[in-house]
Amino acid sequence: MASVPSLAALVHQRVADALSAALPEAGSADPLLRRSDRADFQANGMLALAKKLKGNPRELAGKVVEQLPAGEVISEIEVSGPGFLNITIADRAIIQTLAARAEDERLGVPTAEKPGVTVIDYAQPNVAKEMHVGHLRSAVIGDAVVKILEFSGEKVIRRHHIGDWGTQFGMLIQYLMEHPHELDHKHADSGEEAMSNLNRLYKAARAMFDADAEFKERARRRVVDLQAGDEQTLALWKKFVDESKIYFYSVFEKLDMEIRDPDVVGESGYNDMLAETCRLLEESGVAVRSEGALCVFFDDIKGPDGNPVPLIVQKSDGGFGYAATDLSAIRDRVRNLGADTLLYVVDARQSLHFKMVFETARRIGWLNDQVHAVQLAFGTVLGKDGKPFKTREGETVRLVDLLDEAIERATAVVREKDAQGRLTEEEIAERGAQVGIGAVKYADLSTSASRDYKFDLDQMVSLNGDTSVYLQYAYARIRSILRKAGDLAPQAHPELSLAPAERALGLHVDQFAETLADAASDHAPHKLAAYLYQLASLYTTFYDQCPVLKAETPEMVQNRLFLCELTARTLHQGMALLGIRTPERL
Ligand code: ARG
Repeated sequence: MASVPSLAALVHQRVADALSAALPEAGSADPLLRRSDRADFQANGMLALAKKLKGNPRELAGKVVEQLPAGEVISEIEVSGPGFLNITIADRAIIQTLAARAEDERLGVPTAEKPGVTVIDYAQPNVAKEMHVGHLRSAVIGDAVVKILEFSGEKVIRRHHIGDWGTQFGMLIQYLMEHPHELDHKHADSGEEAMSNLNRLYKAARAMFDADAEFKERARRRVVDLQAGDEQTLALWKKFVDESKIYFYSVFEKLDMEIRDPDVVGESGYNDMLAETCRLLEESGVAVRSEGALCVFFDDIKGPDGNPVPLIVQKSDGGFGYAATDLSAIRDRVRNLGADTLLYVVDARQSLHFKMVFETARRIGWLNDQVHAVQLAFGTVLGKDGKPFKTREGETVRLVDLLDEAIERATAVVREKDAQGRLTEEEIAERGAQVGIGAVKYADLSTSASRDYKFDLDQMVSLNGDTSVYLQYAYARIRSILRKAGDLAPQAHPELSLAPAERALGLHVDQFAETLADAASDHAPHKLAAYLYQLASLYTTFYDQCPVLKAETPEMVQNRLFLCELTARTLHQGMALLGIRTPERL
């Protein structure tokens, strides 16, 4: 493992040094370096600095240039416009840096020097209920964030806070008790079967609950038994949880996502802590009794009537709700799991809840300067019409149906592309799943999580534009060139001069580590997606402008193959961190 500093980082350092040498009073001013179309990099920092020091920016820029003679890395530097610096990198430096990246399994990406511990709460469906597109977003975004953080060296602990507790279980358990044959087999053979069992039970129980007052009363008493830990009641409750897990795991598998059983710690996992959580909150005065309920009040949170809306930690009947569980989970994650960052990948519609929960935890000191919590709040999935995604009948769309349709569409695209019939049926099906699931994930990950996005399958599986299929084809095309290269192995030739498209591609490949660092610290997979899309676009330009196998000299062929291979590895690694497969052939 050898971390390779990027050229951008090197240049940044040089310009910053030159700046403070030229102008000691500038302190450690940021040279504001960015990629530019005119040269390789442009530094704009002199403008703001000259303004602050009431100097002339062009003059200041000139002084910086004097401190920065052209050398091995910077081949040219000039003052331009009102006081920018235009900086060109030596071809040799580009290829040498890339060669150092190629040497490293991690492409020269460093790992954090002082990694922290992040506990991430994501992929949290509800027991005995269908999964919907909201659960998809949490799972897809969470999985990518886990992978990006882990790659950066962070210790990541996953928590799937499934909805496995609550009064609705009274009704379900009571019904099952009275109709034991309904779930008397060992286990469902498939997720579909498990879910259809649960659906049937749920509907039947609900109907009885609504129609039969005596059953309603028995169901209510069953809730009390459940909370009291009655063995027989718990055993039936567990049947529901296990049956649901068969279903959840089947969906996660379809999503090509690894969810591990020990990480599934649902709401019920915090039962033993609830009473103590309430006691601590009440004793510290953070929570107060109000009309029998234990509440936390906030100055800035008021309902439409102007009255304060409290966070209810314990209801007046003694029952604990969602907030008590989340506050207990915070205690567990901080104290027992040693978290310094708590991350929640949850729908933006729960933002008020988390705002109140986090503020409560801060008041009592469970969260503080060392330990902080963030909700990675995601927006709503919309239909093509821009309204929340529903079936024509106005029902929530079943996630499984959606995934199946994506796979079906993608399979059609793969089949059509394979006009010469090189792929077997089995290969087409496998690629179809990888392309279809990739398309769904990428559509989610390529927009910033906080934004709503339109679920549009036509667009998602399109070969043109910012889609995973486009990226997967770019990858497969590179792999096919590498296979055709025969005896000529990819090899870096730093002595060669580079075409503009080669330079642009090379400099972008060199930015991979910085992109990942950004995506990790901001918990923003969309930054990685944007980088990869640009990588594929720059590769396409390179491929159009620079013949690879027919380049003029064998050295040029090798050097271009080297660029191809490093681009492919970067694409592959980046896509893997988004949880998307890159098939070798498409
Ligand atoms: N199960 C919840 C839902 O489906 C999401 C749970 C979010 N996590 C949490 N710690 N509250 O909406």
